[in-house]
Amino acid sequence: QTSLKSAFEPDFLIGTALGTEHIFERNEKANTVIKREFNAISPENVLKSGPIHPEMGRYNFEAADRYVAYGQKNQLYTVGHTLVWHSQLPRFVQRMNHADSLRKFMKEHIQTVAGRYAGKIDSWDVLNEALHEDGTLRNSIFLKLLGEDYIQQAFQWAAEADPHAALYYNDYGIERPEKRQGAIALIKKLKDNGVKIDGVGIQGHWGLHQQNLKDIEESILEFSKLGVKVAFTELDISVLPSPQKLNGADVNQNFSEDPHLNPYQKSLPDSVQQALSLRYEGLFRLFLKHKDKISRVTFWGVNDGQSWLNEWPIKNRTNYPLLFDRDYNPKPAYYSVLKIKE
Ligand code: G3I
Repeated sequence: QTSLKSAFEPDFLIGTALGTEHIFERNEKANTVIKREFNAISPENVLKSGPIHPEMGRYNFEAADRYVAYGQKNQLYTVGHTLVWHSQLPRFVQRMNHADSLRKFMKEHIQTVAGRYAGKIDSWDVLNEALHEDGTLRNSIFLKLLGEDYIQQAFQWAAEADPHAALYYNDYGIERPEKRQGAIALIKKLKDNGVKIDGVGIQGHWGLHQQNLKDIEESILEFSKLGVKVAFTELDISVLPSPQKLNGADVNQNFSEDPHLNPYQKSLPDSVQQALSLRYEGLFRLFLKHKDKISRVTFWGVNDGQSWLNEWPIKNRTNYPLLFDRDYNPKPAYYSVLKIKE
């Protein structure tokens, strides 16, 4: 097979998240890889409310327009991310303390942004990360000021603004049983009330040694029983230890002062490359097994250098979570994913 998108063409879309450098086509190598390997795109940041809607009623559409135009020009399935999210909110919204003003903002924002790109965005992450780890609704500014009806309203306004886009609920960790129950309840309530919801996005920010294939498989089955498609919307596999594993030490200190705690700074040892290949292979075998239920698998970035995991949970790490290295060359994990389709 010559590319990811052609290998998985019969099965599901293969996407990547674009940063501003890709949207403005500043890096030829990157744009070559994007066009060769992927048939779907997501905006890593430019369609979020903070960047796009800095002041009440004032919008900054430049980068978002370029993103949507890039998708159109290259005939890529174009995802909108995201209309309602408690994070990366504009400052004027973070300061709100009245239901009326927040509801007005949310309605106008959805109408304006989803309306502007109606017919050009193929699918919207209408609502992002509205659940706590235990499956209860996140105590965000939206829940606090508007109550749980804000969820239904968001989906209804999105459906009105763009009747043709597929509408998704998107979250991380919803493959885990406790949080999954919350996502199921959220989706079910929308369905029961006759509100349009087409899919659920499992983000897929996972770890190298995390053993969660069973949870993922159960989630695919349970979500699709509700009558929604499942997408893996932000896939990446961190190869670095997570801070929780460092015995409560002050990880910020340790990571900057003791290089032994972070053995993968300069290059990735073969054994880790191999583990990453196996991890991706296991995931894609599972996705293929359930391809009739899966609409799309999107990586959260084009190459390792772009990944947010270099900055989180600790700044200035060197992580290797994706299929292309810092020079945009395919890694062994890329070939292990392609090999499944041979
Ligand atoms: O653009 C500003 C720049 O003007 C400023 O000087 C600089 C200083 O910090 O910040 C820049 O903004 C950063 C932005 O990325 C663009 O690079 C923000 O600080 C930074 O917080 C932001 O991080 C993004 C993060 O969402 C925000 O929560 C990551 O790139 C992005 O990958 C990440 O994506 C999220 C999904 O949207 C939802 N699911 C989880 C996923 C990973 O956190």
